Amino acid sequence: MDRTVVLITGCSSGIGLHLALRLASDPSRSFKVYATLRDLGAQGPLWEAARSRGCPPDSLETLQLDVRDADSVAAARARVTEGRVDVLVCNAGRGLLGPLEMHAAGTVGSVLDVNVAGTVRTLQAFLPDMKRRRSGRVLVTGSMGGLMGLPFNAVYCASKFAIEGLCESLAVLLPPFGVHVSLIECGPVRTAFLEKLESVPGGALDGADAETRDLFSRYQRHLERIFREAAQDPEEVTEVFLAALRAPRPALRYFSTESFLPLAHLRLADPSGCSYVAAMHRAVFADEPAEEESAAAPGGPELRAPPAAAPQ
Ligand SMILES: NC(=O)c1ccc[n+]([C@@H]2O[C@H](COP(=O)([O-])OP(=O)(O)OC[C@H]3O[C@@H](n4cnc5c(N)ncnc54)[C@H](OP(=O)(O)O)[C@@H]3O)[C@@H](O)[C@H]2O)c1
Repeated sequence: MDRTVVLITGCSSGIGLHLALRLASDPSRSFKVYATLRDLGAQGPLWEAARSRGCPPDSLETLQLDVRDADSVAAARARVTEGRVDVLVCNAGRGLLGPLEMHAAGTVGSVLDVNVAGTVRTLQAFLPDMKRRRSGRVLVTGSMGGLMGLPFNAVYCASKFAIEGLCESLAVLLPPFGVHVSLIECGPVRTAFLEKLESVPGGALDGADAETRDLFSRYQRHLERIFREAAQDPEEVTEVFLAALRAPRPALRYFSTESFLPLAHLRLADPSGCSYVAAMHRAVFADEPAEEESAAAPGGPELRAPPAAAPQ
C-alpha cells in the first residue's frame, strides 16, 4: 500500500522536528516524511534524533524550504519524488514580543511575511494538486494567540488571527474537493520559540516609557510562570496532530490543551470584548489578586490566572 506522504515546514526545532520524527518512526511505517527547513545547515539535531529513535532510513528526507520565498517552496514541491503530498503541515512561524511602538518596521513585516504570507505561499503551492486529486489534508500550527489577544504580542497575535481567518475560509470551501483543513491550536509549548523571536526586546525597551517598561517586566514574570507551570512538551502536542491526521472527518480545530478554553469562551459570550479584556488584564498584570476581587472576576474565579498569556 502507498505510504502517506507528509511535508512539514519549520523542522529545524520544536514542534516541526518532533512531528517529523513521530511520523517517520511510527511503527506502522506508513508515512514518508519530507521535513523541510529554512536552512539545511540546521538539520543536524533532526538527524541525530532520527538516528537515536531508529527511524527507518527511507521514512525521512530533508528539503530546503523558506516560506518567505515562493521559488524555494516550488523547488521543494518539485523534489517530492512521489509526485504528491497527502498531508501538508504549515508549521513554520516566528514570534515577536514587546511594546508595539518599539518594533522596527522591518521586524513587523518579517513576522507577517513568515507567519501569514509564508503560510499562504505554501498553501498556494500545494493546494491546487490536492484539489485536482480530490484528496488531501492540511494541518496548520495555530495558537491561542490566534484566538485571543495577548499583551505585548500584538503583531504575533495579528498574524495568528490572520491564520484563523485563512484556514476557516478554506475549510468552508474545500470539503467538496476532498481536502480538509485543520488548525492545531497550541498553548505554551517547550520549544526554541522564545529563543528564536524575530527580535529580542532588551535594548529596544530603553525607548519605551517607564510605565510600559514596568508592565512589560510584569508580563515577563507572568510568562516565565506560565511556561514553568503549564507548558507542554512537543511530544504531547504532536499526538494532537496525529489525531487530526487520522480523523475520518477532520474538525477545523483541535486543541493541545483545554486550559485556555474558558477565556476563549468568554470572548464569545461577551461580544463587546469588555469581559475578556478585563479578565486577561487581571490575569497578566494583577500580581497578587485580592480574594474578593478574584471571586468577582468575569466568568468566575477560574479565570483569575489562566495559563493564557504566553506568546504562542
Ligand atoms: N512554542 C509555543 O509555545 C507555541 C505555541 C503555539 C503555537 N506555536 C507555533 O508553533 C509553530 C512552531 O514553533 P515552535 O514552538 O516549534 O518554535 P521553534 O522551535 O522556534 O520552531 C519554529 C520553526 O519555524 C522555522 N521558520 C522560521 N522562519 C522560517 C521560514 N522563513 N521558512 C521556514 N521555516 C521557518 C524555524 O526555522 P529556523 O530555525 O531556521 O529559524 C523553526 O524550525 C510556530 O508556528 C509557532 O507560532 C508555538
